[in-house]
Amino acid sequence: MVACPIILSYIQAGPLLDARRKGLTTIDISADLGRTTGTVTLTGDGIIFPVGERLAWSSIEKICKSEINCYLVEDNAIQPIQVFSEYTNRMCSLLPTKGAPGMLIAGFVMHRIKDTDPMQDTRSKIAAIVPISGRVLDTATGLGYTAIEAARSAEEVVTIELDPGAQAMARLNPWSRELFDNPKITRIMGDASEVVQEFADESFARIIHDPPTFSLAGDLYAGAFYRQLYRILRRGGRLYHYIGDPDSKASGGVTRGALRRLQEAGFTRVTRKADAYGVVAYK
Ligand SMILES: C[S@@+](CC[C@H](N)C(=O)[O-])C[C@H]1O[C@@H](n2cnc3c(N)ncnc32)[C@H](O)[C@@H]1O
Repeated sequence: MVACPIILSYIQAGPLLDARRKGLTTIDISADLGRTTGTVTLTGDGIIFPVGERLAWSSIEKICKSEINCYLVEDNAIQPIQVFSEYTNRMCSLLPTKGAPGMLIAGFVMHRIKDTDPMQDTRSKIAAIVPISGRVLDTATGLGYTAIEAARSAEEVVTIELDPGAQAMARLNPWSRELFDNPKITRIMGDASEVVQEFADESFARIIHDPPTFSLAGDLYAGAFYRQLYRILRRGGRLYHYIGDPDSKASGGVTRGALRRLQEAGFTRVTRKADAYGVVAYK
């Protein structure tokens, strides 16, 4: 069995420093960003994880100071979980939250974290097109949360990711493990606007379209792309399309354009879903 990497953020580092102040010798904390907990031993020099890995107090203090990075603990040292993607020329990193982390790409957060968290955000996206059944296309893998959630009831989920840097973040994220382990999920690396052209007509029952913001991925909001989504969606199928904060001026403009282009592509009952920050459309 491959040992799971130890990943910490300021959410776990804070209680460790508190425990040291209180003079405790052990404390239960999570070494996988809140998915599970285990007991670590506190010493004068630092902490010892159940697997034997050690970490100095100076490293824990460093983790505690950063609210925008998660850290991989390896060989008794830490490194921030981030990668500069040469493919897209963008920096990708894992953004800590109290629950599942989000992802930052070029400084843009890929999940909603204000007044919610990435998992609740994911559930609201999926809820917009329930029931989920049959074959599902997830156009933009990211950390795989939408693919993982859809796979709970779908027969198969096909998910596409453009950026190897983003996929590297998912590989390290404890909350993305099912993306790689669940046999119902098929991962494809490529540009969704090209990959969709290869799918047969009417081959998906649901499509989850969760692209980055319009300024990062305009092609994924284009009429030509919507026409492909319409072609590959089966009759009676549903599309969820994330667009952004319905109260923001920028998203309002993008939403109006998207609604029009979706209708022009053939979709019916194209409606805003404010609570899911997006649009739902039917075929
Ligand atoms: C908002 S995130 C998706 C979040 C995802 N649904 C989740 O549950 O974590 C958008 C993702 O789309 C990827 N992406 C950007 N352009 C793309 C393209 N043309 N084709 C496929 N994926 C793309 C980005 O690298 C990023 O990982």
